[in-house]
Amino acid sequence: MARNKVTVIGAGNVGATTAQRIVEAGLADVVLVDIVEGLPQGKGLDLAEAAPVVRHDAAIIGTNDYADTAGSDIIVVTSGIARKPGMSRDDLIATNAAIVGGVVKAAAEQSPNAILIVVTNPLDVMCHVACKASGFPRERVLGMAGVLDSARFRTFIAMELGVSVADVHAFVLGGHGDTMVPLSRYSTVAGVPITELLPADRVTALEQRTANGGAEIVALLKTGSAFYAPAASTFEMVDAILRDRKRVLPCATLLQGEFGVDGLFVGVPVVLGRNGMERVFEITLTADEQAAFNKSAAAVAELVKALPA
Ligand code: APR
Repeated sequence: MARNKVTVIGAGNVGATTAQRIVEAGLADVVLVDIVEGLPQGKGLDLAEAAPVVRHDAAIIGTNDYADTAGSDIIVVTSGIARKPGMSRDDLIATNAAIVGGVVKAAAEQSPNAILIVVTNPLDVMCHVACKASGFPRERVLGMAGVLDSARFRTFIAMELGVSVADVHAFVLGGHGDTMVPLSRYSTVAGVPITELLPADRVTALEQRTANGGAEIVALLKTGSAFYAPAASTFEMVDAILRDRKRVLPCATLLQGEFGVDGLFVGVPVVLGRNGMERVFEITLTADEQAAFNKSAAAVAELVKALPA
């Protein structure tokens, strides 16, 4: 049986760390692509030389040539310019739209049956760009944001209550930006909603820290943005797809009427399996939650309108 093959575009912090996680888990062979000559080759060789020590035999190469990516099962898109301190995700829009459109077109030609996972920000908008550039159906174009935002929320809940992150579940919906919607009612510790465990002002504080989670890291690092948690979150999606696990994970997907939204990529829970986005997992929202979700979707719609034609 042929091995699974994953192409990771962008050999920067997020791309290289994602590639490392995939090969070290023995999940798939990886092709790391970048526009900079030598960078993907160097990181690919370095990761290959770690294999005997880590004891995996997945293959990894780096390249600047899309011909090497042919026949990939999954294409992860991390190429772009990372956020600088004080820069919003949305400032990045025109530059990253051109980069993402170009790389997706080149990669999709080589792997017409692949599933795309978009990581480049501004995330929801880049999903639109990737969908258009690939011509792929919505089942095969996903954005990585909700897993990361939920992981951040889980981390903050666990810190607040002094419990293991393993027992904390959290749901964050909406766009990957300041208007994201942490759903505290559905966020639980050992099945108990956090709204029953914490006073309302602490819940609000954790929600706000989650919405600001990316900027908090950017402000600390001063150069570049988060990559360990983004890479781990991307890996979780790759794993769910390649192992056909039917995981229920929040991902950016093209809504077609679900949650009252049509024709926009927004983060919602979906069932992830070998066919990509196999089902939107619809849940009932309260009037307030729906209003917050609509506001978040409207913010994504504004950015999509701002895309260069
Ligand atoms: N083709 C291929 N690679 C490209 C292209 C291109 N046209 N343009 C840029 N790149 C590469 C860069 O050379 C760089 O190696 O994309 C890589 C981006 O890596 P970093 O700058 O380290 O950024 P990173 O922290 O990995 O973030 C990547 O993920 O989380 C998001 O907001 C983040 O949009 C950003 C993306």
